[in-house]
Amino acid sequence: MPIIWRPQLTTGDERIDQDHKYLFTIFNCVELAVHSHDQIQHLPLFFGQLFDYTKEHFLREEKLQFSVGYPEYLAHKQAHQDILVRLKEVNDHLQQLATSEGGLNDPELLRAGLDQEILNLSRSWIVGHVAKMDTAMLPYLKRAPKPFVFGS
Ligand SMILES: [Fe+2]
Ligand SMILES: [Fe+2]
Repeated sequence: MPIIWRPQLTTGDERIDQDHKYLFTIFNCVELAVHSHDQIQHLPLFFGQLFDYTKEHFLREEKLQFSVGYPEYLAHKQAHQDILVRLKEVNDHLQQLATSEGGLNDPELLRAGLDQEILNLSRSWIVGHVAKMDTAMLPYLKRAPKPFVFGS
């Protein structure tokens, strides 16, 4: 079932919420690729994009937290690091399979690189983190003054 962003997941920062929506969309593409015979060859590409965008998003979120003096900054940064280590492990494995002999032509080989259990875990690392830890920023981000943007 696709992950759908809902208003209860808001963090109080529009850019961060946009990132989360986009991350969910990439995750849905990953899931679609796993379950579709026509799309399975795109799995390493989609998962690679999920990993890259997660990294980019975590950095953006940490910068924002730092700028508003978020008290959970260090614990949150550590949680991000833990997720990245796990996602990297899965991603490295998939990229390795994709470049192995016959890798992209063997759907079962690719599917084995991201079986249902790892897929469910990846989903909970991402969605669970947004739902539990990112939404906890809401009271702080709501209070934080909006950054001044020159020319706006
Ligand atoms: Fe986030
Ligand atoms: Fe986060």
